[in-house]
Amino acid sequence: MSQSIISIKKLRKHFPVKNVWGKDIALVKALDGVDLKIENGKTFGIVGESGCGKTTLMRTLLRLVEPTSGSVVLSEDLNDGKFSSNNLEELTNEELRRFRRQIGVVFQDPMGALNPRMLIKDIVSEPLVIHGKTANIREKVIWLLNNVGLGEEHLYRYPHEFSGGQRQRIVIARALALDPKILVLDEPTSALDVSVQAQILNLLNDLQEKYSLTYIFISHDLSVIEYMCDRLAVMYLGKVVEEAETEELFSNPQHPYTKALLSATPSFDKDKEKIMILGDVPSPITYLDESKAKLATEMTEQERLEIKSIEGKGIDYIVRSSLNEVFPLKKVATSHYARVK
Ligand SMILES: Nc1ncnc2c1ncn2[C@@H]1O[C@H](COP(=O)(O)OP(=O)(O)OP(=O)(O)O)[C@@H](O)[C@H]1O
Ligand SMILES: [Mg+2]
Repeated sequence: MSQSIISIKKLRKHFPVKNVWGKDIALVKALDGVDLKIENGKTFGIVGESGCGKTTLMRTLLRLVEPTSGSVVLSEDLNDGKFSSNNLEELTNEELRRFRRQIGVVFQDPMGALNPRMLIKDIVSEPLVIHGKTANIREKVIWLLNNVGLGEEHLYRYPHEFSGGQRQRIVIARALALDPKILVLDEPTSALDVSVQAQILNLLNDLQEKYSLTYIFISHDLSVIEYMCDRLAVMYLGKVVEEAETEELFSNPQHPYTKALLSATPSFDKDKEKIMILGDVPSPITYLDESKAKLATEMTEQERLEIKSIEGKGIDYIVRSSLNEVFPLKKVATSHYARVK
């Protein structure tokens, strides 16, 4: 295993839920003890369904939200030997600014990420201006645009004058402006159609090779994940339930949720085992008041009863509530961990 550039340790983020009087009545456990090591120069994938905490993980990693507990440890590569500590939570505001400069962020929706009233030249140069790196700024912006397959002729145009794929290229150009070491890509291609998706993914692969970038790649599209990622963590309700090298995880999934996720991908193989996940995603909310907590368990029991009535139809199924059972992460093969008995 090569050296890790960032280590995430027991990271928790619990959002309080308030009632109309402003009193805390519950907690949303968006992140509930996540441990990850991001390897230098590789692409680390994070998959999981909506609401499992992927975006919260990235926001907490960038300290855009304060974690409830846990820590993020930087490698010497990110520290540059200049920070007062390797622990993110101990950095001064100025150091935090310098740390963020090393991480470029690309979000799902390119239109939302681009100010419609700004010219492309201003959008791409914005991070440079904010960080006071204005020397030869025009040349730098043209160089950034060239890097993503755009050029000087696009400088004086507005976002609406571009296609979806081109807009995502602009977002990527801006993310690269401060020469980051890491790119966080949160569903970077899910708003694009398939052929454009492929172009953007190939562009990202080229850029990674050219500039030795580390990618943290969030997606719920398993074919994209399989194509892009070296290693992969599957998240469920704020926890990592399985983690392994991509090939190993796809060929030897262990956790029931991973199995169900993989079986849901389209395939030409008619005999491929299908596993259904029944019921809604359980709520990540934990009620502080015991009577409410009891109500929540009763609802889960009901869900289980409902599912029993459709048994015997020859479909394998997983009851949502059974996924709630939490086992510690266990080593199941070489560098492959899963929360199984
Ligand atoms: N600021 C906030 N206040 C309260 N709850 C929040 C906040 N941000 C996120 N959450 C909750 O935390 C949980 C995780 O949200 P998050 O956005 O991380 O999910 P996600 O995995 O990125 O989902 P998606 O795939 O839909 O983007 C959700 O239940 C969400 O409602
Ligand atoms: Mg998200």
